[in-house]
Amino acid sequence: MNIQIIPLQTHGDDRGSLVALEDGNNIPFEIKRVYYMFNTKDGVRRGFHAHKHLKQVAIAVRGTCRFLLDNGRERIEVVLDNPAQGLLIESFMWREMYDFSDDCVLMVLADQHYDESDYVRDYEDFLEQSK
Ligand code: TYD
Repeated sequence: MNIQIIPLQTHGDDRGSLVALEDGNNIPFEIKRVYYMFNTKDGVRRGFHAHKHLKQVAIAVRGTCRFLLDNGRERIEVVLDNPAQGLLIESFMWREMYDFSDDCVLMVLADQHYDESDYVRDYEDFLEQSK
């Protein structure tokens, strides 16, 4: 399975570090929505869905977490622990997120507004539709 980690150029100097996100540049779609998860409780596993059309890039801007990505044929685990790396999540990819560190802030950029009808929340339906 081809997982794309986008390296995000870090502008650093003696004041610290800065990463800029620009659609059409380091983000391969027009950014229509940004959301972020934080204060995720111990032992929590989130996600458990795929999207019919939505593309996203996930960045652990602080702390660490793990992603399980599943395209219906293969599953892969990805660790996000670097604010200068973005994980591209294409459509029709089942995802689960877990092992959030206490300080984890997981930011997600998306190419569409929130739309419940774009979700596939049943794993069996996902397997059927991803054939
Ligand atoms: P949910 O889909 O349960 O998150 P996860 O994929 O991490 O399990 O979303 C949690 C709540 O937030 C749910 O009530 C829907 C709402 N929500 C929005 O209003 N806008 C958004 O962009 C997202 C991602 C969620």
